[in-house]
Amino acid sequence: MRGVWVLSFADVLLLLACAAFIMGLKQMGRKQSAKRGNRISSLGMMAAVAGALFQAETNLILIVSIAAAGTAVGVALAIRVRMTSMPELVAIFNGLGGLASLSVGFIGLLPGSDPNSVAHAMSAASIVIGGIAFSGSLVAYAKLAGHIGVASVTFPLQLTFNFAMLVVAVAAGAWATLGDAAAVHAIVLVAASLILGVLGVVRIGGGDMPVVIALLNSYSGVAAALAGTAIESPALIVAGTLVGASGFMLTRVMCKAMNRSLSNVLFGGFGAASASSGSQQPTGNVTPVSVEDAYLMLEAARSVVFVPGYGMAVAKAQHAVHELSQLLIANGCDVRFVIHPVAGRMPGHMNVLLAEAGVDYDLLRELGEFNESMHLTDVAVVIGANDVVNPDARDNPTSPLYGMPIVNVDMARCTIVIKRGMGHGFAGVDNALFTLPRTRMLFGDARSSVAKINEQFVA
Ligand code: TAP
Repeated sequence: MRGVWVLSFADVLLLLACAAFIMGLKQMGRKQSAKRGNRISSLGMMAAVAGALFQAETNLILIVSIAAAGTAVGVALAIRVRMTSMPELVAIFNGLGGLASLSVGFIGLLPGSDPNSVAHAMSAASIVIGGIAFSGSLVAYAKLAGHIGVASVTFPLQLTFNFAMLVVAVAAGAWATLGDAAAVHAIVLVAASLILGVLGVVRIGGGDMPVVIALLNSYSGVAAALAGTAIESPALIVAGTLVGASGFMLTRVMCKAMNRSLSNVLFGGFGAASASSGSQQPTGNVTPVSVEDAYLMLEAARSVVFVPGYGMAVAKAQHAVHELSQLLIANGCDVRFVIHPVAGRMPGHMNVLLAEAGVDYDLLRELGEFNESMHLTDVAVVIGANDVVNPDARDNPTSPLYGMPIVNVDMARCTIVIKRGMGHGFAGVDNALFTLPRTRMLFGDARSSVAKINEQFVA
């Protein structure tokens, strides 16, 4: 019997799932308990799926088979994905979350569905937000994976066209809410939302992608909460609200990291193709340095700051960098790491890698805090970072990165940049740092270059 006072087994499972989501998220707020939080949340998701299966009134075998197929694909993807491709995987997962909510909303608007107009309104809203999250995430995936250019794509009257699409979606949603359910409403909503997602994300330039990725994550949560309201699923509402709210908080953090307002990112069209196209070679001369000379500079340094970037992830150099930091400390050097909030390709990317390598959290410094004392640092070592140390972001108003706070490595007494060549960063712009008189370029793969410096120390 199900009622207000008597809980079924499925209700208990769903209640446990909600509690696990909240506890898991809380634990993820601290580095020390983040792994435990992840496990608790996963168990919560398992309980939620089991609860939904117990509640299901349709063909259980069909549902279990589809869930098993989804699980197999998810496990295979998670096992095979390279660490450097994690951001793309996260984008795909965001998109699939949006697609799932879109599907629930679509079914909720078909003839024969719940005639309740609130359910129709929620279904319509979950189609719109879910559709934007789905198609927007596919574009984000394509940009992250390098399948399409990262520069902002804009065309005349684009914002007007986007606004017109939004009006079409709102009109179709109102029509579905006030009238009878009909497939045509759902189809119009799906089409408008998919177009909105694509056009909304293609206009966001490379450097601003961190904001849009966090925002799409938030959209996928909001869409799930709306779908949960439409089908009266408390667990889906709780999970969706948590993802939506935490995604929105992350969006704010990313906006702050980029020194942009959200409207500026979404409607500004920063990093348009014409602005970001530049030659592969910045004007001016670069000063290459050998491993031996880099070693001598570091051996003599009393203070060193490491600034990791995406190239460190590509090279899997974090363990070698940790070893170098230990060798420097043993040599009496004051060592710090400064992690830019958007370094790498996903929030916390560098923190995860350095933690995996065993770098002590006490050595990490905040960007603003450290920048003030950068001029007192003997050597700044840039490991596979590019955009986050580009002085144009600070000094050149025509740069697509202009306004983004950077790590001021150019203000250190000397800077060693370790990268393979003169390749651009994600934003696709030249970097004036590489040609400054106090910059030394150590060309080569980050892991092997740092390992060779380490060998000099122990020789
Ligand atoms: P990037 O600016 O992307 O620069 C990475 C550099 O690493 C490249 O210039 C590349 O130069 C070098 N590199 C690649 N493989 C290497 C290897 N094996 N060894 C040594 N160097 C290697 O990285 P960043 O400074 O971390 O900046 C992140 C960028 O990504 C920002 O524009 C940010 O907005 C964007 N983004 C961030 C996120 C999040 S949430 N973090 C999400 C999406 C986009 P070579 O080819 O010459 O070696």
